Amino acid sequence: MVDMQLGPKLVELVCSQLGGTGIQMLLLINVQLSKIHNTTFSGLSDTNLTYLDISKNSMSQIDKDAFVHLPHLEILNLESNQVTVLNQYTFHGLSGLKTLNLKNTLKESKIDDLSFQWLKNLEYLNIDGNKNLNFTENTFNGLTSLKNLSMVRCSMNLESVTNKTFISLSKSPLLELNLSDAGIAKLEYGAFSGLRRLQVLDLGFNRIDQELTGDEFLGLFQIILIYLSYNNHITLTSNSFSSIPSLKKLNLRKTKLTFRDLKPSPFKGLQNLTQLDLGNNNIANIEENQFKDLSSLRILNLQHNNLARLWKNANPGGPVLFLKGLHNLEILDLLSNGFDEIPPSAFQGLSNLRILNLGENNVYILPKSLFDDQISIYQLDLHKNLITSVERQMYEIVFSSIKILDMSGNPFDCTCESIAWFVNWINTTNATIPGLETQYTCNTPRKYHGISVELFDNSPCKDTAPLKMCFIFTFTLIVSFILLVFVINFQGWRIQFYWNVSINRILGFKEIDRKGENFRYDAYIIHAKKDMPWVDDNLIPLEKDKVFPFQFCFEERDFEGGKSQLTEIVNSIRKSRKIIFVITEYFLDDPWCRRFKIHHAFQQVIEQSRDSIILIFIDDIPDYKLNHCIQLRKGMFKSRCILNWPAQKERASAFREKLKIALGSSNLVK
Ligand SMILES: *[C@@H]1O[C@H](CO)[C@@H](O)[C@H](O)[C@H]1NC(C)=O
Ligand SMILES: *[C@@H]1O[C@H](CO)[C@@H](O)[C@H](O)[C@H]1NC(C)=O
Ligand SMILES: *[C@@H]1O[C@H](CO)[C@@H](O)[C@H](O)[C@H]1NC(C)=O
Ligand SMILES: *[C@@H]1O[C@H](CO)[C@@H](O)[C@H](O)[C@H]1NC(C)=O
Ligand SMILES: *[C@@H]1O[C@H](CO)[C@@H](O)[C@H](O)[C@H]1NC(C)=O
Repeated sequence: MVDMQLGPKLVELVCSQLGGTGIQMLLLINVQLSKIHNTTFSGLSDTNLTYLDISKNSMSQIDKDAFVHLPHLEILNLESNQVTVLNQYTFHGLSGLKTLNLKNTLKESKIDDLSFQWLKNLEYLNIDGNKNLNFTENTFNGLTSLKNLSMVRCSMNLESVTNKTFISLSKSPLLELNLSDAGIAKLEYGAFSGLRRLQVLDLGFNRIDQELTGDEFLGLFQIILIYLSYNNHITLTSNSFSSIPSLKKLNLRKTKLTFRDLKPSPFKGLQNLTQLDLGNNNIANIEENQFKDLSSLRILNLQHNNLARLWKNANPGGPVLFLKGLHNLEILDLLSNGFDEIPPSAFQGLSNLRILNLGENNVYILPKSLFDDQISIYQLDLHKNLITSVERQMYEIVFSSIKILDMSGNPFDCTCESIAWFVNWINTTNATIPGLETQYTCNTPRKYHGISVELFDNSPCKDTAPLKMCFIFTFTLIVSFILLVFVINFQGWRIQFYWNVSINRILGFKEIDRKGENFRYDAYIIHAKKDMPWVDDNLIPLEKDKVFPFQFCFEERDFEGGKSQLTEIVNSIRKSRKIIFVITEYFLDDPWCRRFKIHHAFQQVIEQSRDSIILIFIDDIPDYKLNHCIQLRKGMFKSRCILNWPAQKERASAFREKLKIALGSSNLVK
């Protein structure tokens, strides 16, 4: 070990002293050795030196025959130097060399043809990080034992790889070729066709922008892994991989992946594929049979795509069950796909699933039978969804095998029905729950807002009547309800209409009569400016109702001039018994409505009770959108407080009766 500043002459002197010793390893790291002459190592000719490290010098010149005196050398490290040229005699005599490291070695990056011709036994060659390399068909001549070639971060004349590029390696048993970040833009016909034994091909972080026809990978008979992630734009066809059925791992993350053909699937015939990464591609469309052939697949990554539509009930043709047939799947990543619906049979048949990531979606409710087949699931990630309740019926079985759970960042509803069972489970489970102290907070009701789920007091929840009775009762109720829904489907609105009318007649809004002097208005109406015509047509007439006239408050009509608008709103809301939201697409866009009015109304309502809000939906607004825009969710309200404006004109009168009932109903939370 020599560790000081040395000129070539001094090194020569030192080496001559080492002659005849048993030295096997010589490290000349960072000693500012600027040149190597053909005499520098001559003193070592009668040693068995196998390892020479001359890295991190500012070496600019290596004379020809510089290593000719070191026939036993197996490892030569020339990393981080400033060598100007490698020529046909630079490595002369190194026929025993197995490993050559030329990472960041070249300054002007000139490698003459046949520079490596002597290295018959070289197995590993690293030329990473060299700039402006100019490869020819003869650059790699003679490397007949090469197994591993790394050309990472090289800049070179290989923008397009052709069947000539690596032709000089066709006699080597190359197993691994790393072309990561090497400026490659195109793979031509048979680009790797000489590399019949290649197993690993890394083409990541390049600029590849092309349609893969399948010709690119011709001749890769033994290929196991192709890494194509982080490229400019890759288009798949039905035959993209049909010449390489031996493939086990395929990475196509962040390649702006598009499918020219979905049928037959580009992945057809990849029966040995165990890992597939299609993440970060914004994929919105795949077919039910896309992954059908992948019977060996163990890891599937689909994170950061746009697959939500495929699982919607309303999808034309029904939900697309694209995971069908993946019997061996163990790890499934569906992070951030916008899913708000998951079909009950989405994971059917995935009985080996161990890790499932559904984080950062819009999932609100999971279907009950969703995890029926996941007997061995051990890690479940549902973080940052819209889950409000974690009930026994849904989660008990899947939680029983779980070791790691992430449900952080969900808007939990801390009520007995929604969360008591979960809190109890958390308290008794051995599973790891990262972030439990800080990232599991109650959203509703107000009493618990912002408080850790763990602190929810579930002692008052426990004295519910015998569960079985409760179950039978609920069951009966549900069956009756289904029957009722069935009946209602057949002109049921008519029944409801007469029912409402008679209720109104008989009871005569008793509760409203009781309202006392506290309220000046029956309801404060919040709506977007653009929805005024609807309000004029449909709400104002109720003020002239013969049986029971209502008194509404509108900003446009009832505000006295002079006072600030904010004060007015606050006061008027306080003086109103109910608050009606007229919810339309306009409404969700109206910034004034969104920022102040709703916030205020909501605060007040929670203070008093949540039943004083009435939501009227003119347009069909999905729940997640409502929640996203104004932090309200239909599930937070009683059904009679949610009214949908009927599409059919003849049902308008039924709607008005319903509205009257809603206006008359009690504000107390039961
Ligand atoms: C090739 O070299 C890399 C880096 O040293 C190593 O990780 C890999 O296992 C090698 N591959 C083969 C087939 O020897
Ligand atoms: C290389 O590809 C061209 C077509 O691009 C073809 O004509 C030629 O035969 C191929 N050469 C070899 C050695 O495969
Ligand atoms: C290729 O090299 C890069 C950079 O050293 C490394 O991150 C990557 O894992 C290598 N690829 C393979 C397949 O080993
Ligand atoms: C798939 O793997 C099996 C088992 O390792 C092997 O026998 C078979 O040849 C492989 N198929 C292909 C097409 O390489
Ligand atoms: C959690 O368990 C401990 C003892 O096992 C008990 O004292 C505590 O009340 C439990 N907390 C909840 C929220 O169930």
